Amino acid sequence: MSIEIIGFGSAQAEKCVTNADLAKAVDTNDAWIQERTGIKQRYFSVSKNTSDLASEAALMAIQDAKIDPKVIDLILVATITPDGMMPSTASLVQAKCGLNAQNCLSYDINAACTGFIVAMQNAQAMLEAGYIKNALVIGAETLSKILDFNDRTTSVLFGDGAGAIIMRKSSTKQMLHYTRSEGDVHGTLTSDGLALNPDMKYDQVSSHYLRMQGQAVFRFAVRAIEDVIINVLTQTKLEINQIDWIVPHQANRRIIEYVANKMNIDLTKFYLNLDQYGNTSSASIPIALSEMKTKGLLKEDMRVICVGFGAGLTWGGSYFES
Ligand code: ACO
Repeated sequence: MSIEIIGFGSAQAEKCVTNADLAKAVDTNDAWIQERTGIKQRYFSVSKNTSDLASEAALMAIQDAKIDPKVIDLILVATITPDGMMPSTASLVQAKCGLNAQNCLSYDINAACTGFIVAMQNAQAMLEAGYIKNALVIGAETLSKILDFNDRTTSVLFGDGAGAIIMRKSSTKQMLHYTRSEGDVHGTLTSDGLALNPDMKYDQVSSHYLRMQGQAVFRFAVRAIEDVIINVLTQTKLEINQIDWIVPHQANRRIIEYVANKMNIDLTKFYLNLDQYGNTSSASIPIALSEMKTKGLLKEDMRVICVGFGAGLTWGGSYFES
C-alpha cells in the first residue's frame, strides 16, 4: 500500500545560543565545537515545554496539509524529553491543538534519536491495517532539560525544537522503513530515571542528565547509517544515484562526512542544518524536512531516505516519495 506525506511543520525554541554564548557557561570554545561537530548555534526553550513546541509544529503541518483537523485520528510524538511521565506528550498535543475528535488515539514513542523513524513506521502500519486514515507524526524535544552544563563533552551538542508531518494513504507514492535495535550493555548513551524507593523516603535523588561515550557513539553511528542506506536501497531496488536526498539525524557533521566518503556518496545529497540547531534528537529529521519543504527543496516525486540512530541502541530509515 502507498503512503504519502501531505503536510510539514516545525517549531523553534525561543533562545538562540551561539557557541560563544555557551562558552560563557561551559569550559569550551567556538573553534572546538565547530571543528569537532559543525555546530554553530542551537535553540534552548525558555517557556515552551516539549508539548508546546510539538503543538506549534503540529498546527503548522495541519495548515500545510490544508485538512480539517477533525480528520486526524492518530497522534504520535517521538520524544525522550516528555513534559512528564503522564499523560503522554501526544495526549497533551491533542488537548492543546483542539484535536479531541471522537476517533483519535494519541501516544508517545521513545526510540531516542531514531524515534521519528519508528513513529512513521507505526503510523504506516496503522494506516495500512485500516485502523486510521490521517496520522499526525511529531518529533519534539527539550533536551536542555537533561543537559549537564558541567559536562562539556555533551552539553555543547544538543538543542530544543520540534517537527511534524501528516501521513495518509496514497494511490501513487511509496513509503517503506527499516528499523533495528541492539540492547546497549555498555551504557553508551543514557539518561537515568527515578530511583526505586522501598524505604519510603520523601526526596528522590536521581540524575537524569544525558551521558554519552562520544567515540563509541561515533563508531556506532557510521555503521548504523551505512546499514540503513544499504538496506533501504535493497528494499526499494533503487541505486543511490536515483535518490534525491538523504536526510540524516543531525548529530554531527563529521559523522556524515565520514559516511559520505566511505560510501562514495556526494556530500551534497545529505541535507544538513545541524550548524543552526545542534542535535535535537527525535526532532532533527522532521525539522529538516519542514525546512526543506519551506525552501522548495522537496519537489514533486523526489525520492528521499531519512536515517536515524541513537540510544538503545536503535537505528533505522524511512524511504518516501515527496
Ligand atoms: N570543548 C573543548 N574541549 C573539549 C570539549 C569541548 N566541548 N569536549 C571535549 N573536549 C576536549 C577533551 O577534554 C579532550 O581533551 P584532552 O585531549 O586534553 O584530553 C579533547 O577535547 C578530545 O576529546 P574527545 O572526547 O577525544 O573528542 P572527540 O574528537 O571524540 O570529539 C565528540 C568528541 C564530538 C563528542 C565526538 O566523539 C562525537 O562526535 N561523537 C558522536 C557524538 C554524537 O553524535 N552523539 C549523538 C548521536 S546519538 C544521539 O543523537 C543521542
